[in-house]
Amino acid sequence: MKGIVLAGGAGTRLHPITRGVSKQLMPVYDKPMIYYPLSVLMLADIREILIITVPDEKASFERLLGDGSDLGVSFTYVVQEAPRGIAEALLIGADHIGDGPVALILGDNIFHGHGFGALLRSCVADFVRGQRGATLFGYPVRDPERYGVCVVDGAGRLVDIVEKPERAPTNLAVTGLYLYDAQAVGIAGRLSPSDRGELEITDVNRAYLAQDEARLIDLGRGCAWLDTGTPDSLLEAGQYVQVLEHRQGVRIACLEEIALDRGFIDAAACAALGRAQRSAYGDYVQAVALARDQQSESRGASTALVG
Ligand code: G1P
Repeated sequence: MKGIVLAGGAGTRLHPITRGVSKQLMPVYDKPMIYYPLSVLMLADIREILIITVPDEKASFERLLGDGSDLGVSFTYVVQEAPRGIAEALLIGADHIGDGPVALILGDNIFHGHGFGALLRSCVADFVRGQRGATLFGYPVRDPERYGVCVVDGAGRLVDIVEKPERAPTNLAVTGLYLYDAQAVGIAGRLSPSDRGELEITDVNRAYLAQDEARLIDLGRGCAWLDTGTPDSLLEAGQYVQVLEHRQGVRIACLEEIALDRGFIDAAACAALGRAQRSAYGDYVQAVALARDQQSESRGASTALVG
């Protein structure tokens, strides 16, 4: 399954912060925002990832992330010329997607929770085995009118999605992570722009619903889905990450650690990535590599870390 991170958009609700730099390059505590959606795709074992940026910032993302080979993945880059809607990502990414399924994630969405990676891997495996349709993820929020909102029937089944309604029918928001089968590009190509002149992802999801091929997974309150669209939510997301990282001594969305855990790189490569970053983050990456190497040593398979 291919992956796409959409890091376009003008980020106007964060002006003046985002007048000079893309929102998805902003820090969320100790790492750039885009690390969080990238970590989600990597946790799902998705290794071929297209990053869609605004024209002015493509070089900054490339400088930050490179071609991904350090992490045992592939990052490619393409620009969205103007903010013409999330669904346009499927058209811009059509060549990358080919005729298989795709996971699209918004570059400002943060997911965190126990078991989240395993849940995603099982959803992705269903698509790889040929499952049809769309898998969407819902999350209960206090202010659903800011999002796409789920309409459910008496049995809790998803029957419709309404985009930013004045009065929300439920408190269940549709999060910015979408798993689609190979129909997605065709569906996006048949959309008309909305009143605000954009190709709406909600219209893609409603097309799948009309075919009775959209399913909703309610992430529930045991998981965190954080938004970074306003100064307050950006700060709160950073505080959430800070509190958990301080308390647990582990880092959220550490790409090097995920690459090691998923077997994309070995401990020696991970340690080298840590050494190249002279910061507490780099120290952590080195410590993770050392700990994993000691575990394999106890199983007789050490890679003999040096340096
Ligand atoms: C978009 C989608 C919306 C979804 C949200 C998730 O809204 O249109 O349906 O709930 O992302 O972050 P936007 O952030 O573009 O306002």
